[in-house]
Amino acid sequence: MKYVLVSGGVISGVGKGIIASSTGLLLKTRGLKVTMIKIDPYMNIDAGTMAPTEHGECFVLDDGGETDLDLGNYERYLNITLSRDHNITTGKIYQHVIDRERRGDYLGKTVQIVPHLTDALQEWFMRVARLHVDETKAQPDVCVIELGGTVGDIENAPFVEALRQLRRKAGAGNFLHIHVSMIPVINEEQKTKPTQQTIKDVRSAGLNPDLIACRCKDRLMASTIDKVAMFCQVETEQVVAVHDVPSTYHVPMVLEKQGLITSLTKILNLDKLEIPSKLKLRGATTWEMWKSSTSVQHHSQIVTIALVGKYTSFADSYISVIKALEHSAMFCRRKLNLVMVDSSHLEEDDGNTSSIESQKAWEILRKADGILVPGGFGTRGTEGMIVATRYARINKVPFLGVCLGMQIAVIEYARTICKIPGASSKEFDDQAIDPVIIFMPEVDSKSMGATMRLGMRPTHFQPGTGWSQMRGMYRNSPVAASRDTSDGLVIHERHRHRFEVNPAYVPKLASNGLNFVGKDDQGERMEVLELKDHPWFVGVQFHPEYLTKVLEPSRPYLGFFAASAGCLKEVMEKLQSDKGVVEN
Ligand SMILES: *[C@@H]1O[C@H](CO)[C@@H](O)[C@H](O)[C@H]1NC(C)=O
Ligand SMILES: *[C@@H]1O[C@H](CO)[C@@H](O)[C@H](O)[C@H]1NC(C)=O
Ligand SMILES: *[C@@H]1O[C@H](CO)[C@@H](O)[C@H](O)[C@H]1NC(C)=O
Repeated sequence: MKYVLVSGGVISGVGKGIIASSTGLLLKTRGLKVTMIKIDPYMNIDAGTMAPTEHGECFVLDDGGETDLDLGNYERYLNITLSRDHNITTGKIYQHVIDRERRGDYLGKTVQIVPHLTDALQEWFMRVARLHVDETKAQPDVCVIELGGTVGDIENAPFVEALRQLRRKAGAGNFLHIHVSMIPVINEEQKTKPTQQTIKDVRSAGLNPDLIACRCKDRLMASTIDKVAMFCQVETEQVVAVHDVPSTYHVPMVLEKQGLITSLTKILNLDKLEIPSKLKLRGATTWEMWKSSTSVQHHSQIVTIALVGKYTSFADSYISVIKALEHSAMFCRRKLNLVMVDSSHLEEDDGNTSSIESQKAWEILRKADGILVPGGFGTRGTEGMIVATRYARINKVPFLGVCLGMQIAVIEYARTICKIPGASSKEFDDQAIDPVIIFMPEVDSKSMGATMRLGMRPTHFQPGTGWSQMRGMYRNSPVAASRDTSDGLVIHERHRHRFEVNPAYVPKLASNGLNFVGKDDQGERMEVLELKDHPWFVGVQFHPEYLTKVLEPSRPYLGFFAASAGCLKEVMEKLQSDKGVVEN
């Protein structure tokens, strides 16, 4: 096993995560199997309980692990599947050591940070690095470890010590350390002092970076690079300049231009590894696909998608949704123009008599090529979402409702078409006369408690749904692990919700034309709804955005986006003709 450590200094938020994922991607383009671990020096054990406003989006893994956006980034860049163990926190490792102490594993010895905690950390890294991360089930060749926080913090000292020891254990040629620093520009001068200082800190902690990645808003001047090299006692080749680029998808190309592949090959002795031939998909290698998909298209058609939600000022809460749309736009070679509409401004139906804010919101909505209602909790703004959904349904504007968004579509349909004016969700109104959405917990056999439905679950497309555009989109989807069995198409997506369509109302909804084309394996939970005679009107109870990949956009999003762009037919044809071919 080879390890790449990515640490950071000066200040946090300099883009360590993107550099770590991009390094992983470059290793992958060499044909290596890459996995990633994130170290978060927090005391928390689970991100699920943290407020989205404080923490950004909660990202869900196959195993139901709730983490934050970094693991999502790794999965999307590298097209891999991680588990909750790929995120290690101070809280998790302390709990692990304390549990062992309680069980008497340490034979009554005094348990200390060094060696007990640091040993436990190394064991964790070595165990988790070996876990397979894709369908080939093969052990990865390289593990990229991103150390959160900045080196020198009190918080990450035990991790730094464990990594120092891991480096020794792995041996020469098996460990590479990239330290990410920042070069501020003051009065047009690129300042290297903070970098010199952080390198000093890292060295005094016992680590010695092989590469210093310097983040800077501009391109680094040759004299700056020389200065960093001289004052930090490294060769100029060891200084990697990473200037700001218009899109984070371009960072791998910036790193490649800096010769990172050569450095990786040399320091990690990659020439000595047996590397299998590269997989070609759609006639191109991963790297060729990456470069062409992410290249800037100046003249491409602009597609406007309105995201109708709450927390609209916190784009962070919808990161995966936004990524899924970006990936879809790249696939369709269109430019995404994402506009956020606060649903509470849509509550007055006509928008003629109402406030300026409401008029503006309606104007944006009317101009959109597609309308998306994402997931969320609570009642605020839900009436506005219902109105937006009705607008999309009646005016044949492509629509995607995700989780809460699907439930909104059901409520709207029940009220308008099925003539059930009191239709609502138990989540918004505990006393609802016609609760078309109810609390449907999953019974957890371990804790014997009712829990949130969390993680990967199958969805079965129902017999007689051959007409379904969603079904068409899912055929051959490698990421959602779709299988065409004798009894139809089965797909797998990640869930995170408590409320669902009330089965008691399904017959009435269905007989009025709301088609539940996908259900769970018991046929009790409604997973996918779709309208006929509409360019694209789809609701999904799961969160397909958690599985989107840069080069494999989530299929429901891709279908929705393509319908909004007017190229759904071409996209479907392209997907059907796709086959992975092995390059010789
Ligand atoms: C890892 O877990 C901790 C605690 O649950 C959480 O705060 C952190 O955001 C998670 N990190 C990642 C990368 O998911
Ligand atoms: C609101 O204005 C639009 C366009 O000006 C018009 O078509 C619509 O009928 C108006 N609605 C009401 C309720 O007056
Ligand atoms: C992504 O991974 C899946 C499953 O491991 C694989 O079938 C697919 O071809 C990969 N896609 C790309 C673009 O590498």
